[in-house]
Amino acid sequence: MSNKAAWLKAANERPLVIEDAPMPNIGPREVMIRNRAVAINPVNWAIQAKAIFPVTYPFIGGNDAAGEIVQVGSEVNNFKVGDRVIAACWADGTTEGRSNSAFQLFFSADAKAIVKLPNHISYAEGSVFPLAMATAASALFQPDTHGLSIPQVNAKSQGKVVLVWGGGSSVGACAIQLLVGAGYDVAATANGRNLSAMKDLGAKYVFDYTKETVVEDIVSTLKGLDFGGAFCAIIGPDILRCGQIADQLGGYKFVSTVLPTNMPTQAGLPDGVGTCNVWGDTIFKHEAGPAVWEKWMPAALETGALKPAPPPLIFGNGLEAIQGSLDRWSEGVSYQKVVVTLD
Ligand SMILES: NC(=O)c1ccc[n+]([C@@H]2O[C@H](COP(=O)([O-])OP(=O)(O)OC[C@H]3O[C@@H](n4cnc5c(N)ncnc54)[C@H](OP(=O)(O)O)[C@@H]3O)[C@@H](O)[C@H]2O)c1
Repeated sequence: MSNKAAWLKAANERPLVIEDAPMPNIGPREVMIRNRAVAINPVNWAIQAKAIFPVTYPFIGGNDAAGEIVQVGSEVNNFKVGDRVIAACWADGTTEGRSNSAFQLFFSADAKAIVKLPNHISYAEGSVFPLAMATAASALFQPDTHGLSIPQVNAKSQGKVVLVWGGGSSVGACAIQLLVGAGYDVAATANGRNLSAMKDLGAKYVFDYTKETVVEDIVSTLKGLDFGGAFCAIIGPDILRCGQIADQLGGYKFVSTVLPTNMPTQAGLPDGVGTCNVWGDTIFKHEAGPAVWEKWMPAALETGALKPAPPPLIFGNGLEAIQGSLDRWSEGVSYQKVVVTLD
């Protein structure tokens, strides 16, 4: 076995260079995976194009992968060689962290951050989940974030409605499905062309965010219901619109966001409306992590309660296609996840 990676050799350099890479070393609680599909996240583009994080060069990026396990660590007893899995990689920018980065043929992953993929879901479909799911779960279910009840098989109704702003994004699509899995009624905003897809994911109320009246429409529809707060999956002024809605609806006046924890929390929210930033990997340091990744996700994938969303837009095959897929993402997506297969 030998490895190859799509390397970022220096800040802002392009294209990525396809060259040999060391085979990953796995720790006792890790697995080694032969990669079969990777998905593109905004941060992958921003690290190359904007150098937004300090990383050690040469760097291997990539957070979302799906493939088959080829080696298991000595303390891993819930996975075996040959299992088809999805994996969240942290690509943390350190030399040691290169091993746990998705843009290569073989990589290591923490056994806590992988989920078995049922045979009816392809690697390309499975690759849409990892970072988006981890980010949505971190924002929604930790006591230091939104603090909502965690999803479980056959969850009872919570009798509350939660707003997801940006349900057409990867993080938003995961948030809708997590909240439905936890027994919440979901109200979601998306572009008008994607509203029926939001319903397919389980949203009970859907609103076109491009309409000028969207805030009033949401408030008038949800008024009188027990409001469980809003999750804004889009960075920008929409966080303030979610704040206005939470303020007017009462109930739990809280807006969780996808602003990274190394940025200031959103200023300008109405008095009394709480908020939080999030870092996608914190769910694995919290008890909600195993509840979501080890219990709910495998069962929900098997039954179809959790659907791969947004659907993969397969850009190409092979590590050579990753640069083009980053460029494709930067041109804009609408309820699509850009994916590269690695057959
Ligand atoms: N803090 C963390 O750890 C963390 C981790 C992951 C992601 N993030 C952040 O989370 C955000 C979402 O990431 P992602 O991967 O989910 O993005 P994405 O899938 O690329 O988002 C694209 C989608 O967002 C929708 N959208 C854009 N502007 C919108 C608006 N104003 N209102 C509603 N929907 C809107 C688009 O809708 P249309 O269909 O209308 O075009 C499109 O479908 C990004 O800002 C990302 O940087 C943070």
